[in-house]
Amino acid sequence: MPHGRITGWAAHLPERVLTNAELTTMVDTSDEWITARSGIRSRHVDGRVTEMSTVAGREAMAMAGVTPDRVDLLLLATTTPDQQFPASASVVQHNLGLTCGAVDMNAVCSGFVYGLVTAMQFINGGVERILLIGSDALSSIIDWEDRNTCVLFGDGAGAVVIERTGDQPSLLGWDLMSDGSAAGILYCDQGGKIVMHGREVFRQAVLAMASAAENAMTRAGITADDLALVVPHQANIRIIEASLKRLGIPMERASLVLAHTGNTSAASIPLALVDAIEAGRVAQGDLILMVGFGAGMSSAAAVLRWDPPTG
Ligand code: UT7
Repeated sequence: MPHGRITGWAAHLPERVLTNAELTTMVDTSDEWITARSGIRSRHVDGRVTEMSTVAGREAMAMAGVTPDRVDLLLLATTTPDQQFPASASVVQHNLGLTCGAVDMNAVCSGFVYGLVTAMQFINGGVERILLIGSDALSSIIDWEDRNTCVLFGDGAGAVVIERTGDQPSLLGWDLMSDGSAAGILYCDQGGKIVMHGREVFRQAVLAMASAAENAMTRAGITADDLALVVPHQANIRIIEASLKRLGIPMERASLVLAHTGNTSAASIPLALVDAIEAGRVAQGDLILMVGFGAGMSSAAAVLRWDPPTG
């Protein structure tokens, strides 16, 4: 098992807040409908992936006390790069003054957990230090006339620094999955806007979340009772409730930020993780389950032993 641990973290949301009330002036919807069906009250929009990632990445590095020359790899999980190419990771690398490899990873809303598992394999292979960022600007690919989708998504970025350690492993178990047969229920064509069959995504999401989480916990040799914190993908409060119910995990153990972020895709799990850490919800040695799903349908889960640097 990889011996990497998270030593720095940061979250960033763009300034512009779009409330449910404002959305009612754009499409035929209501604050009551959006809140009851999704749990979302507002979201941040008009972000750009390279800008949000740069801010979050810089803050995470500062917290870890890591200078740019000491980062060995930049992984940027995103579905909405600023340009078709170059990779947004290359722009962020330059902005941060890094002198290492940099690549975008697209597993849509599961991207951050895919990135975390990937990062840990690099660490296991001898890499010392990785900057992992999950960042998405979904407001750039929303059809603002489609009430089925425009009320759900938002923009943001979360970053972590992962460093190699000789001590106990922190990634105890993981699961990565993709079911391409469901690719048609949620997609965005090149240059197009988000198309979603919401009810079917909902149904499959609950199954995928529960399955990924169960597989990761089994591989970690733990049960739901051992978890101190669950960091689920922040798509819809009802999806989170239904999947945690299947897993036998009380909602009090979940980190929730979607009420003020909406669904930020690859940024959703790091935003919720950072929120829980900063609220003092995890202590040394606690077990954290991160679990996400997204278009693809992709799904991913990781069980992490919380092992922040001391002092
Ligand atoms: O990262 C993954 C991204 N996607 C998701 O996770 C989405 C998964 N799906 C969902 O979260 C839910 O399916 C939604 C929140 C999208 C919809 O909730 P629902 O309970 O599944 O509602 P529904 O699709 O069954 O629609 C119920 C009604 C429909 O009207 P009719 O056909 O019953 O007359 C919709 O047209 O609600 C209508 N509706 C709305 N009404 C007011 C759909 N969107 C809206 C809206 N405001 N924004």
